[in-house]
Amino acid sequence: MTRPDEQTGRYGDVRDDIDHIVVDRGRIAERVDGIADEIASCYPSGRELTIVAVLTGSLIFLADLIRCLPIRMRLDVVSVSSYPGDATEARELQWRLPITADLKGRDVLIVDDVLDTGQTLRALLSSVRSHRPASVRSCVLLRKPAPGPEERPVPDFVGFDIASEFVVGYGLDFDHLYRNLPEISVLARHARRPAE
Ligand code: IMP
Ligand code: MG
Repeated sequence: MTRPDEQTGRYGDVRDDIDHIVVDRGRIAERVDGIADEIASCYPSGRELTIVAVLTGSLIFLADLIRCLPIRMRLDVVSVSSYPGDATEARELQWRLPITADLKGRDVLIVDDVLDTGQTLRALLSSVRSHRPASVRSCVLLRKPAPGPEERPVPDFVGFDIASEFVVGYGLDFDHLYRNLPEISVLARHARRPAE
């Protein structure tokens, strides 16, 4: 094991910043296949699907998922964030890239990484619905327990239900780092403070 950087407290190898793996590569691959089957069975053949994916956290999941989906589909990406910078607590929602695809009369599937408070998915559902699509469904890779009594939107497809811990990897970040880790993991304590 290498020594941590004196200023940031982080190790050079991202794997040394991981406390434990929550979902390994094998389980991810198997479940992504399963979700793709569930999704494909909901859309009759001959209809085109429009996926609206939320950057940046869903990027790796999206790439794996759409390659398992043998249906005709279009792809639009939006960017909306409730975790600016290094914060691990929900903040105000920021739209960085709005919907650009024509969704009117289309079958839309929203793809996001994590359902936590439900704020992001609620905002997306309402934005997508304002385009008058034929149908709207949603898919999240991870669902955490509801943090409070407020109602959350119910996703149609869920990869894994996990504990309410902050996780990184497989597209998910902490302070813009760790998206490239192939597993979904909990960060070690020394890595949870922001870089100077
Ligand atoms: P919500 O709006 O509170 O449901 O939060 C969902 C968004 O927060 C997700 O799209 C993620 O970008 C981010 N998020 C929530 N939990 C985590 C986590 O454990 N790791 C990384 N990002 C997270
Ligand atoms: Mg997100």
